[in-house]
Order: sequence, then structure tokens, then C-alpha cells
Amino acid sequence: MKIEISSPLDMHLHLRDGAMLDNIAQCSSNSFAGAIVMPNLLPPVTSKEEIIAYKKRIKLAIKDDTFTPYMTLFFKNSYDFDFLSSIKEEIIAIKLYPAGITTNSEGGVDGFDIESLKMTLDAMSELEIPLCIHGETNGFVMDRESEFIPIYEKIATAFPKLKIIMEHITSKDSVQALDRFENLYATITLHHLIITLDDVAGGMLKPHLFCKPIAKRPEDRFALRKLAFSGHPKVMFGSDSAPHPQHAKESCGCAAGVFTAPIALQVLTELFLQNSTIENLQKFVSDNARNIYSNIVIPSKIVTLEKRSFIVPSNYGGVVPMFANEEIPFSIVDIKG
Ligand code: DOR
Ligand code: ZN
Repeated sequence: MKIEISSPLDMHLHLRDGAMLDNIAQCSSNSFAGAIVMPNLLPPVTSKEEIIAYKKRIKLAIKDDTFTPYMTLFFKNSYDFDFLSSIKEEIIAIKLYPAGITTNSEGGVDGFDIESLKMTLDAMSELEIPLCIHGETNGFVMDRESEFIPIYEKIATAFPKLKIIMEHITSKDSVQALDRFENLYATITLHHLIITLDDVAGGMLKPHLFCKPIAKRPEDRFALRKLAFSGHPKVMFGSDSAPHPQHAKESCGCAAGVFTAPIALQVLTELFLQNSTIENLQKFVSDNARNIYSNIVIPSKIVTLEKRSFIVPSNYGGVVPMFANEEIPFSIVDIKG
């Protein structure tokens, strides 16, 4: 059986920089027609010059015209209309991190009073630049995402023209919040469709499954799966594939992030075939994003998968992928640009 996916997209990806970028970038371009690239470098990407230079480095690492890196700027509440209009053509969205909530987010937002965000969010609304949010408070780790929902609602109400993407949702509360506001959208990762906290910490600790937001309860995973498998038009695939060197994961003080780029499309295909339809996979992994990010230009790329198992390598240049050394049933057998 052959499965064809037209222009698959990863709407939330960490490509890093330097040697790591060179190591892992092709893991994404081997499967996807494009990806939204997160700006949480050290220091974060906050200027037009940095965006242009980073995009150039990504293209050099990828060497493939059928993959587009869609660039994002690291949110600062000091961005004004003139600055954002000068940068609009270079970016697809702006990514907001609460300060200190995850990897390299120290320069993020410290409080969420509407007054302090108003100048930048008004300009983004006017210029139709979507806002991607890592929605977690600094409360108890299992409750952080649910505690953030009132902040989503406050921003969605105050800026009704702003498209707001709830990134990597992990809880049934977020699933329920999605349809309460027209201007709320969401991405879901592969790993949150598969694991719960039990897989991370229920037995021997699994550092390669540790990420932010942390995987939650079975009922949360159930709600995420139901939403993704339904092909809901406000939901997109965003892998949040976040590579860290093996030593940074297998250490005291494990870095957060699951590296799924090399196996994401293959495992999604398996999951959707078991639980949904290939039409809904096409929506989840491409068509919905095309409609939500209305100005997006997507390279045409037909990716063909087949039921042919392969053993996932133990690492990619020193980064351990999800399902390392395990057999997965689907392989990519052809890519047409
Ligand atoms: O687990 C995560 N890793 N979550 C994030 O939000 C950031 C990411 C990273 O950059 O490593
Ligand atoms: Zn991320």
C-alpha cells in the first residue's frame, strides 16, 4: 500500500544553529516541504538582520529547494508598528515565550497585562502577523498549561483580529478552549499523541521523552488524539522536534525536548491509518496550515510512504531520536519536488 502526502508541513520546529543545524536540518527537509523555525537561539532572533542571516544558514544546511524555512521573530513588547512593517516580509509569525519557561526563553515576557503587550499586539493585528505562544505559567508543572488558558482568552478577546496559535497543546483543557474563540488555533506534536507522563517517569526515567510542556494524563492524550484524528480545521501538526546533544539529555539536569524530525511523518502515517483517515492526515499535516497561515507559499512536494519497516538509528550526529533502535512500520519511499 502506498500513501501519498502532498507538501507536508511542520508548523513548529527547532533547527538550532552551527554544527547542530548542519547535523539535523536534513532530517526535516527529507520529509517536509517546509517548517516554522523557532527563534529561541542564544541570543534569540530579534532583528531583521538576524532573521535573514539565520535563514541563509538554514538554506545552506539543507541544500534543497523543496523545503522552505518559515522564519519567526522572538516576541518582545518593544516591537512597534514601523519595526514590524519593515520585517513583515521576512517572517511568518512571532513566537512568544513566558520568561524562563523553557530552553533559551530567559528574554521572554515577564507579565501578561494587556497594557504592556498592547503596542506590539496592535501592530501585529494590523499587519496580520500571527502570534505563536508557548502557553505555560510557572505554576505546578502538570497544571501550567491549564493555568495559562485565561491568558489566551484575555489576549484573544482584546485582539480579536490577531491569529493566536496555542503551540504544542497537551491537555484536554486546551482542546476545549480551542473552539471558544474564533481566533485561537493550535499545534499538536507527535510525541504528545503517543506518550503520557507514565512513559517519561512511570518506570525508569526516560530523558529522551522529557519535554516542555511535559506529557500529561491518559485522558489528555485521548482528547488530543480525538482532535488531531478528526482533521479539525484549526489544528496543525507542529513537531516541536527539539534536538539536544546526547550528553545534555542523559545528564543530571536533563534538557527539555524530544527529537522526532527523522521519524515524524512515518509514525504519523501509522497513527492515522490505525485511527483515522489519510484525508485527515493530509489536513493535519498540510491543508489546515495552508488555510490558517493564509499568506504561506508552499513548495510542491509529494512524499510517498509505504508499509516497509525500518530500524530507527540510535543517533543522528550525537542526537538520540524518539524510537531509537526500534522498528517502525512505515518508510518514505519516494519524494517528488
Ligand atoms: O521541550 C521543549 N524543548 N520545549 C520547548 O518549548 C523548547 C524546546 C527546546 O528548544 O529545546
Ligand atoms: Zn518548541
